[in-house]
Amino acid sequence: MNTIKEFNKSTHVLNHDQIDTLHKEFLDIYANANINSLESIIQISKELLIHSEKHFQEEETLMEKYNYPTIKEHKDEHYKALAEMEYFIKNSHSTFGKKMLKSYFIEKLPQWFDFHLANMDSDLVCHLNKFEH
Ligand SMILES: [Fe+2]
Ligand SMILES: [Fe+2]
Repeated sequence: MNTIKEFNKSTHVLNHDQIDTLHKEFLDIYANANINSLESIIQISKELLIHSEKHFQEEETLMEKYNYPTIKEHKDEHYKALAEMEYFIKNSHSTFGKKMLKSYFIEKLPQWFDFHLANMDSDLVCHLNKFEH
C-alpha cells in the first residue's frame, strides 16, 4: 500500500479557518510518513500526538468560549484519541508493538480522523458559525 491520506477539500474543509488549518496541518504531517519504514511511522506518530494536543486544545477553547452544548462528548472523543495514540506509541518498542502501531496508523487513525471530522467537528463548526459570522 503506497497511498496515504491527503487533505481533500471536498470532505475535509468545514469552513472555519482556524479548524481547517489544524486539520490540514494534521494531514500534512501524516502524509510525511514513509509507510514502508516503521521508524518513520513511529516518528510521525509522535509528531501527530504533539500536534493533536494543540489541535484538540484549540477546539476545546472555542467550545468553552461559545458554550458548545455537547462539549463533554466532544472532549471525551479527543481524550480517547490521545490515549489511543499514546498507547500505541508507548508500546512500539517490540516488533509486535511496531506492527500494531503500523496497522493503527494506516487503518484506524485515518478512519478516526474522517469520522470525527464528519460527526463532531462539523457539528462544532455549525455551532461556531452562528456566532462568528
Ligand atoms: Fe478537529
Ligand atoms: Fe474535534
